[in-house]
Amino acid sequence: MSGVVEPDLSVTVGPLALENPVLTASGTFGYGLEFEPFLKLDELAGFVTKGLSPRPREGNPPPRIVETPAGMLNTIGLQNIGVDAFIRDKLPRLREYDTAVIANVFGETEAEYVEVCSKLDQAEGVAAIELNVSCPNTEQGGMIFGNDAAALHAVTAACRKASRLPLIVKLSPNVTDIRVTARAAVEGGAEVLSLVNTFVGMQVDVERRRPVLKKVCGGLSGPAIRPLAVWMTWQVHEAVDVPLIGMGGISTAADALEFILAGASAVQVGTANFVHPDGSIRVLRELREWLKEHDVATLRELIGAGHSKAPA
Ligand SMILES: Cc1cc2nc3c(=O)[nH]c(=O)nc-3n(C[C@H](O)[C@H](O)[C@H](O)COP(=O)(O)O)c2cc1C
Repeated sequence: MSGVVEPDLSVTVGPLALENPVLTASGTFGYGLEFEPFLKLDELAGFVTKGLSPRPREGNPPPRIVETPAGMLNTIGLQNIGVDAFIRDKLPRLREYDTAVIANVFGETEAEYVEVCSKLDQAEGVAAIELNVSCPNTEQGGMIFGNDAAALHAVTAACRKASRLPLIVKLSPNVTDIRVTARAAVEGGAEVLSLVNTFVGMQVDVERRRPVLKKVCGGLSGPAIRPLAVWMTWQVHEAVDVPLIGMGGISTAADALEFILAGASAVQVGTANFVHPDGSIRVLRELREWLKEHDVATLRELIGAGHSKAPA
């Protein structure tokens, strides 16, 4: 029978049951509907929306995106249509698809996070909330929520109370020890952790002798960050008991499997969507082929398997 049976790709990620482990990452997949011409949304286990705030935001002025060796820097500045327009204009169409819609949420204060979470809680068709905590806290002098364990604990706990939806907290990699913030998020009520968001970086235009990005620094993503993100996934897997969703530079099945073996139950594909709009589906199909070629019956047996002390 080996090699003939279709492998079982289904995973459970805390309260979320997914048909397969491949999702797309926030900010790289719009509100899903923009990708209808390029792929079947039903084939994806789910996708994460662009970050939603209480009111629409225009984002930062250009230049706000630049290619880097093996990646890109962006300072889009959390441009979005706002949670009300998302619920009114996007969700009804998204409900036609059999795919998990994960709403990415951010705010500049704890109250703003709570406002967005409570509205999503009342909406029909949201599978889970993912908190983007890589956002400045205007009440705390602009300190990033996700870089401060106490602020992260507080905002997670407040959002936990504001909604019954499964709560994913997306960790910032711009910290000294990611296990500290991972534990704070779990103690605050996160049922799942996703990691990582972008790394802060910059590029200088040598001819102009000025930063390339108008806002000087931006978030680095793409293959350049993958080894850093896999290491963080490995460490967090050993530090907490909740399921993880890994991301950072995934564009092939082998990339996804690195995260899964390090401890992720699912993965998100981000920057690769800018190379091929159906990049996530390519990863999924390759993953299915890889499992067949390696006679692996269920993907679940690979989750965290890299930590095994037994010789491979
Ligand atoms: C253009 C762009 C916009 C992004 N916007 C968001 C966002 O709104 N919320 C969020 O949590 N992450 C955002 N991210 C981060 C990605 O979701 C992801 O964590 C990161 O890019 C690493 O994955 P990748 O290397 O596969 O892109 C954005 C990334 C990019 C490239």
